Amino acid sequence: MMPSATIIGLKTQYHFCIMARVKVIAIANQKGGVGKTTTAVNLSAALAMRGKRVLLIDVDSQANASQALGVEVDCEHSIYQALIGNKLMEELIRPANRRNLSIIPAHMDLSGVEVELTQNGTHLTCMRDAMEGLRSSKYYDYVFLDTPPSLGVLMTSSLCACDEVLTPMQCEFLSLDGLSKILYVVEQIRDSGANPNLKHEGVLMTMYSNTNLANQVIAQVKENLPDQLYTTYIPRSVRVAEAPSFGKTVIEHDPYGTASMAYQNAAKEFMARHRKH
Ligand SMILES: Nc1ncnc2c1ncn2[C@@H]1O[C@H](COP(=O)(O)OP(=O)(O)OP(=O)(O)O)[C@@H](O)[C@H]1O
Ligand SMILES: [Mg+2]
Repeated sequence: MMPSATIIGLKTQYHFCIMARVKVIAIANQKGGVGKTTTAVNLSAALAMRGKRVLLIDVDSQANASQALGVEVDCEHSIYQALIGNKLMEELIRPANRRNLSIIPAHMDLSGVEVELTQNGTHLTCMRDAMEGLRSSKYYDYVFLDTPPSLGVLMTSSLCACDEVLTPMQCEFLSLDGLSKILYVVEQIRDSGANPNLKHEGVLMTMYSNTNLANQVIAQVKENLPDQLYTTYIPRSVRVAEAPSFGKTVIEHDPYGTASMAYQNAAKEFMARHRKH
């Protein structure tokens, strides 16, 4: 039986925007535990392996992306410092111990930033302003933002600062509702003028297993957002869950495993979708 919830009414949106040299992509879904951080880390690593210069910015006080790459985190080098205007983002960039890959880590101090930014009225602009130097330096091909599971200030400021949104999504019924919400937020941010060229770039299915339900959910996404669904699905694999405990990506931990191959295929697909970039 098909899931009764649909995402009918969601429009695929096409935008023309000036191609910037540095492409900033927020990995976003306000639902928790859907594979945002896993995607941010492994897609970044796979692109870096293919010769792209990648910066991963950890915008989540859980600091999972920083930990997954084995990068030590302290409050002096956290993205927090750039958001409150204490440091330039460029000063916070750290090598991620992999060729072509750098990171700006997060620290749990980020959990307090929402109140500070709301109070001083910079919550929509702080990330974009802090990123100006990075954009004009044109050093990186791609900057990924690993966003937290909420529609709070950190998510909003990320969406105001990025060019595109990539949504990892679990192949489950309630995820369709989550996808509708993120698409709505993207539309709102664009229409408000806060980021008029913001584009929802794609949907990447995660933790896939070949069940009727998973395939029905995917069919719904495909029907409503045919150009946005990545043809690569990331399979559920215990290797993915193990990898962070070794400070490794799944590509390093289990190079020929199904999830590793899937993230590498997703990176190829990402590059094909951005080939004009
Ligand atoms: N393909 C997969 N197979 C098995 N486990 C996975 C897979 N992808 C992610 N996981 C596991 O699921 C959990 C949630 O993943 P992850 O942290 O990437 O999600 P998230 O969306 O970033 O979560 P949060 O919303 O808390 O930031 C983690 O324990 C991770 O190891
Ligand atoms: Mg996460």
